Amino acid sequence: MSERTPQERLDDLRARALLGGGEKAVERQHARGKLTARERVELFVDEGSFIEAGAFVTHRCSDFGMEERRVLGDGVITGHGTVDGRPVFVFSQDFTVFGGSLSGAYAEKICRLMDQAMKVGAPVVGLNDSGGARIQEGVVSLGGYAEIFLRNTLASGVVPQISAVLGPCAGGAVYSPAITDFVCMVEDTSYMFVTGPNVVKTVTHEEVTSEELGGAHAHAGKSGVAHFTAANDAAALALLRRVLSYLPQNNAEDPPVVPCDDPPDRADAALDSIVPADPNRPYDIRDVVRGVADVGSFLEVHEEFAPNIVVGFARMAGRSIGVVANQPAVLAGVLDINASVKGARFVRFCDAFNIPLVTFEDVPGFLPGTDQEWNGIIRHGAKLLYAYCEATVPKLTVITRKAYGGAYDVMSSKHIRGDVNLAWPSAEIAVMGAKGAVEIIFRKEIAAAEDPVATEERLIAAYREKFADPYRAAAEGYVDEVIHPSETRHRLCRALELLKTKRDRNPPKKHGNIPL
Ligand code: HXC
Repeated sequence: MSERTPQERLDDLRARALLGGGEKAVERQHARGKLTARERVELFVDEGSFIEAGAFVTHRCSDFGMEERRVLGDGVITGHGTVDGRPVFVFSQDFTVFGGSLSGAYAEKICRLMDQAMKVGAPVVGLNDSGGARIQEGVVSLGGYAEIFLRNTLASGVVPQISAVLGPCAGGAVYSPAITDFVCMVEDTSYMFVTGPNVVKTVTHEEVTSEELGGAHAHAGKSGVAHFTAANDAAALALLRRVLSYLPQNNAEDPPVVPCDDPPDRADAALDSIVPADPNRPYDIRDVVRGVADVGSFLEVHEEFAPNIVVGFARMAGRSIGVVANQPAVLAGVLDINASVKGARFVRFCDAFNIPLVTFEDVPGFLPGTDQEWNGIIRHGAKLLYAYCEATVPKLTVITRKAYGGAYDVMSSKHIRGDVNLAWPSAEIAVMGAKGAVEIIFRKEIAAAEDPVATEERLIAAYREKFADPYRAAAEGYVDEVIHPSETRHRLCRALELLKTKRDRNPPKKHGNIPL
């Protein structure tokens, strides 16, 4: 038998590393409707751009017969490629190798990648598909997870971190994606939970499937853990690419500016009649966002969770913006616990990564009730307030209709460093709605009146006449300008252009104490 040359040996090793867990395991992966770890990476990055690191890493475990079972790469593919020409670090967990479970060596691969991403200042994308801690390695695996959690935390706010969950993600393993900025789950093939259905049954006697407990829609709609869902792996990866397109590489850069055909001064006449004359009639705030932003640029985030507030990315004249908008079409756009938390997290992300905030406001206030009070609407509402207050990116606000009470202050008002605050003629800026106000301040008069109903109606009309408009606030300088809705795009584009050199900072401190 002839000796292999060193080059042949390398080629053999490379070929072996490409096999992952072998043909049978790959077939099983495909039969479940999932791509392999390597197929995912190739689909995610620009064609031919992926450069792998650590393909020959193997685990160091010699218990339970593991010394006989060493697979090159050890169940995770790590490296970097480009997305739209910009560098991105990627790790992709390979379920065909020990169920994608995490060993000490595997964790080190991910940690090395994250350390390098921090030095280079490039995003980290994690493609998760794993049975969790490598059981044969015990505490070494747990230590590996903790090393990753630490790096996720240190990287938070420095480089964007995005997770796709493309298979199982259970136990403490969920906390790495949970610390990252955005999580996308694939319908039917992915799930996340701290304890699975069997443990749940033992402890709480609830019968629940993995999908019900921790599938894509459970987390997109109920828990808010998932920001996006996708029908399959390919759709999830395409979505991640789109998310990255709005983001800078790191917190020291501005987001990319893309060429834009949509004229900045485009006037959308439909906006002039979008707010119904009846203040209690709903409309879809997303129609406002789409009418104002660059055509086709709006990407909603957290669509299924707390739909009474809408958040997402868009562009204006080719520049990335973060949109936060009360949604009058759901619960009248009221702020409740989930809406506050959803809004706060998005505001903080945008502020961390230099993405200007554009707020569309139509909010009747905070949601009343024991459920909300006892579950901490004070604490959670304060998060949104805190997030807006601390944000130093350009902050633009458009009041389309109601701006009542504390919610007026919260939603990027002038008083908390809103840079440009505009109101439509339909804006109603007041302590509360006319009916509520009259019932409090004229309670005695109404009770004593010969015709209480007519008296109340008259007083409501008088209050509306006096306060249900933007001109009081404009007279105080609390809104910069009252504009026709169709002028909104032009005004916002001009403001963003002006504010691109905005500099503002908060007092030096170790960190603030956001009411968690
Ligand atoms: C080692 C594992 C593994 C694990 C799966 N495998 N999970 N090996 N450690 N955690 C191996 C299996 O032995 C099998 O190997 C192969 O991966 C595929 O697994 P299957 O069970 O055949 O696949 P499937 O039926 O699809 O089930 C997938 C699964 C199941 C639901 C993920 O494997 C499972 O329940 N695994 C254990 C999950 C778990 O309890 N993990 C520890 C959680 S605690 P062969 O050789 O047969 O192909 C945890 C703590 C983290 O993660 C703490 C961080 C702080």
